Amino acid sequence: MQPAYSEKHGDFTVPTHASTKQNFRGVHLFSLFFLSCFIAGVAARGATAESNDNTYWPFIGSTSAAQQYSPLRQINENNIQHLGLAWYVDIPSADGLVGNTVVAGNTIYEAGPGSKIYAHDARSGRQLWIFDPKPQFIGTILTFWGNQITRGLAMWKDNLYVATGDCRVVAINRLTGKQLWEAKSCEPAESYTITGAPRVGGGKVFIGNSSIDAASNRGFVDAFDAETGRHLWRFYTVPGDPSKESASKAMTIAAKTWGKDWKNIGGGNAWDGMTFDPVLNLLYIGTGGPQPQNPLQRSVPGGDALFTDSIVALNADTGEYVWHYQTTPDDAWDFDAMAPILVADVSIKGESRRVVMQAPKNGFFYVLDAKTGKLLSADNFVPVNWASKIDLKSGRPIENPIARYYENKDGRATVVPNEHGAHNWQAMSYSPQTGLVYIPAMLNAGIYQSTYPPGGVKVDLGAGKSEVKSKTSGQLVAWDPVAQKPRWRSDLDLPINGGVLSTAGELVFQGTATGEFFAYQAQTGKRVWTWYTGSATQAAPSTVMIDGEQLVLLPVGAGGAQQQVFADWTSTKKSRGPVRLLAFKLGGSAQLPAYQYSEYFPRPPRPRYPADEVSKGAALFDDSGCSFCHGYQAIHPTGRVPDLRKASKEVHDSLAAIVLGGARTSKGMPSFAGAVTPEQLEAIQAYIIDEAWNAYEKQEHDKNKPGD
Ligand code: HEC
Repeated sequence: MQPAYSEKHGDFTVPTHASTKQNFRGVHLFSLFFLSCFIAGVAARGATAESNDNTYWPFIGSTSAAQQYSPLRQINENNIQHLGLAWYVDIPSADGLVGNTVVAGNTIYEAGPGSKIYAHDARSGRQLWIFDPKPQFIGTILTFWGNQITRGLAMWKDNLYVATGDCRVVAINRLTGKQLWEAKSCEPAESYTITGAPRVGGGKVFIGNSSIDAASNRGFVDAFDAETGRHLWRFYTVPGDPSKESASKAMTIAAKTWGKDWKNIGGGNAWDGMTFDPVLNLLYIGTGGPQPQNPLQRSVPGGDALFTDSIVALNADTGEYVWHYQTTPDDAWDFDAMAPILVADVSIKGESRRVVMQAPKNGFFYVLDAKTGKLLSADNFVPVNWASKIDLKSGRPIENPIARYYENKDGRATVVPNEHGAHNWQAMSYSPQTGLVYIPAMLNAGIYQSTYPPGGVKVDLGAGKSEVKSKTSGQLVAWDPVAQKPRWRSDLDLPINGGVLSTAGELVFQGTATGEFFAYQAQTGKRVWTWYTGSATQAAPSTVMIDGEQLVLLPVGAGGAQQQVFADWTSTKKSRGPVRLLAFKLGGSAQLPAYQYSEYFPRPPRPRYPADEVSKGAALFDDSGCSFCHGYQAIHPTGRVPDLRKASKEVHDSLAAIVLGGARTSKGMPSFAGAVTPEQLEAIQAYIIDEAWNAYEKQEHDKNKPGD
């Protein structure tokens, strides 16, 4: 299957010797099926001459269109009960793998925390090499976050591309594991980092960035020459200082939608979802919310704040603006629209339409015309309360004014969903076979409290002792994008689960935060297979043929917000298992070694402090940001951040040097000099000691329980 392809224009012709058995949607499905193959073919041709398409998984997302779909059907609903572990390999990383794999030439490539790239032999799991771009921590929360989370890599010809937390794009040769070039995209000292995977297309590498909502800088996307690393273009997502740059067409449109004070313009970071469309030669980018987040802190009266929370289509050659669609105008809730952007040809009212689909944080599923950005349909895929519907004529949400916390008398509102979103960055999947989109959805709520002036907004996301905690869970939603209706739903205990894969074997695969790997019948949602991995999962599975056998690959290990923000949930101990790459096949009979999560709390080195000091410290522990990394209520997250409840006498004696003196900044522990006073640190210490005693006493008490 080698359809003609012109790299320059991205056009292609579809061969006619197709045989798709379960093709029930007519001709356009043929093109979809071949689109997957042809893109696989393109990457493959660049790689090795003998390549056979289905041995390749060339993109995170499977194809450039990010459909997360495989035409393989060796594993199907009739034999799924024989699916077992072919092999597993431990990954030497404390933090979990969140990006999915790419596969070429019997080799599996995986990007992990710290932007390390791991190469493994697909036949045995044997490790071939590890590439480490050695990102630097500069002592900020931002670089800590960026260096911990790497959402994957891109492949083009024999090259692999990964982006680093200190703002570089690095190209390496996939056969040797050696670096080819590196290019700087953003500046960490200006509060930028990168957590997203680069995307490739048309001989270019595309990358965005993140400010983890902590800074009012401008989001942008850079394009580099895939061969040489030469910088080709940059597209800013929000306007800048009008005295310093002449406005492009895009920035002229955008500038009108902000208040007059350009200094209060920021955000719109394209921190993950991005899709190159070879047919239209467009790059679709998804952007994050505006900064500052509380609209009162932006100029009042403000406007829609373009191009935040938008899908923007750019000319992939020049970076010029082509169209945009904004999902949440004048956002106050951090409803980023940076979820994966899926491209497909679907039949709508009897007509084949090339569409862009996204399920952003705000809980609505959008179908847009890929060429024009025109909204074709939208409906909510989980319950939401911030808007009742999307008006198709104007393309705007019909908002519920109650959700605008900053306009309410008490400055407060309970909003569904919250800023973690009804769906975040985890891969969704589109099966051309069933015509359904499978969304790794979340059910949650947040209590938004305006703190302006002097600050902005405080959001209770449902962690720790929150009153909205009980509203939080997960769901796999099978969504009909044409009817804009659910076909089935499957409930999950925790919110942040893995990305989704669908296959022509009528199966849908997903790993969970609670450590299971599930397979569902794609049409009915019947759970047909469960395999307990013991490790929380966020990555999406991928699947390839290796030596005639279909292999399903799953990277596991708690990572990102799943391990940190929800540490008290993933600490169910069922899913705190090791960081691994797992491979499954029919008849696979490998076993994971028995794993029992255990921990021991030493006797705390100091006596408890007075209760009022402790409660002061508890509030400061959250407000100063300690809980962001060390867990709510000091409940230890997995990964490389230490459990403060186990801190030794030496650590407590040198607390000021560590927290205020910056003694450990090179290892990711920021300096809080200026942000936390020595008196406040004493209160925080009182709180840490108190939690240490709570954990220790519980352990000693449980030890003495009869029968335990
Ligand atoms: C951006 C993430 C992050 C934040 C925020 C953070 N820490 Fe840390 N912290 C770390 C990491 C990573 C380490 C481990 C450093 C190392 O390997 O030595 C650490 C280590 C420590 C240690 C040493 C523990 C030990 O047993 O060695 C203490 C104490 C500590 N942090 C206290 C705090 C306090 C108090 C706050 C809030 C004021 C805080 N941290 C905020 C990431 C963070």
